[in-house]
Amino acid sequence: MVKDMKKVYITSPIIPPIDKFNLLVKQMFKSKYLTNMGPIHNELEIKLKDLLKAKNFSLFNNGTIALLCALKTFDFPIGSEIITTPWTFAATPHSIMWNGYVPVFCDIEKDTFCIDSSKIERLITEKTRAILGVHVYGLPCNVLKIEEIAKKNNLKVIYDAAHAFTTEINGRGIGSYGDISMFSFHSTKLFHTIEGGGLIYNDDSLVEKIKGLRNFGIFSEEVIDDIGLNGKMNELQAIVGLLNLKLIDEEKGKRKKLKDFYDKSFSNIKNIHIPKIPSNISYSYQYYPIIVEDKFPCSRDEIYDNLKNKNIFARKYFYPMCADYECYKDLPSSRSENLPVANDIKNRILCLPFYGDLDLITADRIIKIINDNRFY
Ligand SMILES: Cc1ncc(COP(=O)(O)O)c(C=O)c1O
Repeated sequence: MVKDMKKVYITSPIIPPIDKFNLLVKQMFKSKYLTNMGPIHNELEIKLKDLLKAKNFSLFNNGTIALLCALKTFDFPIGSEIITTPWTFAATPHSIMWNGYVPVFCDIEKDTFCIDSSKIERLITEKTRAILGVHVYGLPCNVLKIEEIAKKNNLKVIYDAAHAFTTEINGRGIGSYGDISMFSFHSTKLFHTIEGGGLIYNDDSLVEKIKGLRNFGIFSEEVIDDIGLNGKMNELQAIVGLLNLKLIDEEKGKRKKLKDFYDKSFSNIKNIHIPKIPSNISYSYQYYPIIVEDKFPCSRDEIYDNLKNKNIFARKYFYPMCADYECYKDLPSSRSENLPVANDIKNRILCLPFYGDLDLITADRIIKIINDNRFY
């Protein structure tokens, strides 16, 4: 019986129309311009810069490489400490380590899952150089408080905005906060280029530096004077991006409908908590997390297993959390007493299937499975 049921995953990518894709690929093959900041790449870069309300925007071949370069931009001394969150994807602390810096994990806020700005200052030492916040599930960090702490302590602020495509605070693009913000255009994201990413930054003096880091540190034919890497998005990725841009509004509309349906259904179910989106936030509709409270008749893991037995694959993002990874668990900041909120939520969070093509009949089935005590 289960075998016959269609598998439902946490997300499903938007797919551009194949005829339009073929047409652009044909043109690309004819031009023989395949990569190295080609015309389609440049067109997409300008369009994304406008859409994301960015002062400066640089495309990358994926979000991780973009984040590596963001952290490399300031050339902090090796061993510098970067205060970040354990509540994120592996790429965030890994990018810190690949730069030769040390992640210092700060606990998270219970309502937004973002770094708890009230706990940042106690972690600052003379080695601290930056704060790396993550706008988890597209919910913004407390950007104003973080800006204040950074100013006071002479720190840079970098944001991992992988989940926050088109998130805005009071109409201001999320990427305009902090020194540099990274976006991911991986296929699991609301907007994607199959693999892709980008950096937004306000400081015009960083344009050449970041473009250099993206391209092996090559500044001109005869000048290579920075330790860059290959962060270039190719034309094929850019074609997918250009076509997908046209689908974003429709996809967001469908996700909004789905979110409204889930919200309404959960409002009748006791002890499942849904995070509130503040009214001044324009949301990215990236994920649909629920928190299973202690009083709910079953645990998060039981819900996860029951859904899985019916071919519905929710995800325990972020379990395990980064501070629990083998490579980070021995850091002093990873101790569980330093991260009480994150350690509590990691056993109660579940991200439900959430994408435009998920029909409401399936969504209703998901709700019924969660709410049906016969399964427990
Ligand atoms: C929070 C977060 N940071 C970084 C990344 C890495 O981005 P990419 O897969 O584009 O390298 C992802 C997702 O993929 C992510 O979810």
